[in-house]
Amino acid sequence: MAKTITVLGATGNQGGAVASFFKAQGWTVRGISRSASSASSKTLISKGISVVEADVDDFPTLISAFSGAHVIFAVTDFWAPFFETYPTLSKVSDRTTGEHALAVEVRRGKTIVDAATKVLEEGNLERFVFSTLPSFKDQSGGKYTYAYHFDAKALVSEYLKEQKALWEKSSLLNMGFYATNLVTMGSVMGANKEPNGNRIIWRRTGRNEAVHPFVVPNDTGIFVDLLVRSPPKQDLLGVSEMATYATFMSIWSEVTGVPSEVEQGTEDEADKAHPGGLGREAAESTSTSAEFGWGKHLVLPKDLDPNVKTTSLRGYFESEDWRPFLEDA
Ligand SMILES: NC(=O)c1ccc[n+]([C@@H]2O[C@H](COP(=O)([O-])OP(=O)(O)OC[C@H]3O[C@@H](n4cnc5c(N)ncnc54)[C@H](OP(=O)(O)O)[C@@H]3O)[C@@H](O)[C@H]2O)c1
Repeated sequence: MAKTITVLGATGNQGGAVASFFKAQGWTVRGISRSASSASSKTLISKGISVVEADVDDFPTLISAFSGAHVIFAVTDFWAPFFETYPTLSKVSDRTTGEHALAVEVRRGKTIVDAATKVLEEGNLERFVFSTLPSFKDQSGGKYTYAYHFDAKALVSEYLKEQKALWEKSSLLNMGFYATNLVTMGSVMGANKEPNGNRIIWRRTGRNEAVHPFVVPNDTGIFVDLLVRSPPKQDLLGVSEMATYATFMSIWSEVTGVPSEVEQGTEDEADKAHPGGLGREAAESTSTSAEFGWGKHLVLPKDLDPNVKTTSLRGYFESEDWRPFLEDA
């Protein structure tokens, strides 16, 4: 009989990729959504993926959704609680929104871990994969302290490691910078058309020569499959291709024929453009990656399987229709 994977976040980028990957491998896939009748859930159902309703803020619903699974993949959404409260909390201080979103993400992450621990007692669960990030506060030796979406997930990982029985069956997936940020992050973290010109300009903090881990979110299924096939307690960097931002954009320009430029920005400039914590949150993520990297303790996909194939940046750029972005940028 086919094994079952339960995917929390199945209607999103990471979970959607995991659900599709495992479905294609013949697994029984159970996606979790707060609404089984949403358009995203209906798309999953049309692909043969069942959708169960559960909410990370409602422990019993999570237990039901996790029950009977051989593998659980879980991702938490930092940004919804951030943006829901940003208009008010950002007026209090430039840390209040980040601190609030961190508290929500840590609480939800711990609830997920507790639910997985409970379901472990059934004896079916073989692997729990949590989508995390390293603490950039620690990674930068305390220099950068506004990357709350990194630090929150790292706190959940620490909590998971304390749950000894569950940790024996778990692995961590640290997703690199989404290659899609180019178009999805707008003026906060994405690229924009230069005023009165044709070039696409991406202003980034950190040294231009710095190499960053870029990930095509659709590769998430490949990484989770690797973690299911490998011994537990892995701390994997989910990276499709390492590159500098300059290389990233030069490949993009080659593929699209549109000239581009990466300009060096500063954290203060990002803060000025998006005050109240948002600019710093985004800028300090890039700055930490540029100056300090993501941590030597992380294993790479090729360390787990030398033959693993991830999507190249060129392959990703070639597969996309860039016209809507170029019209709106
Ligand atoms: N952008 C980047 O470069 C980058 C890099 C690494 C990591 N990340 C992290 O990726 C995370 C977001 O992952 P994503 O892009 O896959 O998410 P996404 O596409 O924004 O989707 C969010 C998912 O979370 C689910 N969800 C939200 N609140 C929920 C709740 N209360 N109960 C149950 N499910 C809930 C949603 O399901 P329903 O709406 O269907 O309920 C949806 O499936 C963020 O925390 C971010 O920090 C981003």
